[in-house]
Amino acid sequence: MNRTLVIVKPDGVERGLAGEILARLERKGLSLVAAELRRLDRATAERHYAEHAERPFFEGLVTFITRSPVLVCVFEGPADTWRIVRALMGTTNPADAAPGTIRGDLATVMSENLIHGSDSAESAAREIEIFFPHLA
Ligand code: RTP
Ligand code: MG
Repeated sequence: MNRTLVIVKPDGVERGLAGEILARLERKGLSLVAAELRRLDRATAERHYAEHAERPFFEGLVTFITRSPVLVCVFEGPADTWRIVRALMGTTNPADAAPGTIRGDLATVMSENLIHGSDSAESAAREIEIFFPHLA
């Protein structure tokens, strides 16, 4: 089995879409193995999004992801589960995301795109270590 990190972002929890988002991943056939509602502190958010530290949108991204609680989850499935989650999420900009995807069906703007999913096997391992070190 193979694991990946998922975060229902502040907009998803605020809008009452956490259940809908988790249900889509579960209906696909992925299993929830850890979940915690938590307000991220700045240091954790910066560590999580470290790859974007030099980008102009970094400050806004950290402010957004720390503004209210998120639902941090680990999902398990077959090989490359991260890729299955990314397909269900849709593209980063919800304006371009295909109907049928989470972002395509439920979001409109890039800055509030509901869900994070690890973007590689290496990212999944790194991110699970940040949020659920006992699972790493
Ligand atoms: P995430 O990491 O949150 O799952 O999203 P992602 O892989 O689809 O996108 P990524 O490139 O990792 O960017 C992380 C988040 O930063 C915001 N972003 N804004 N203004 C911009 O050009 C821009 N680019 C990215 C988005 O909210 C994206 O989810
Ligand atoms: Mg990303």
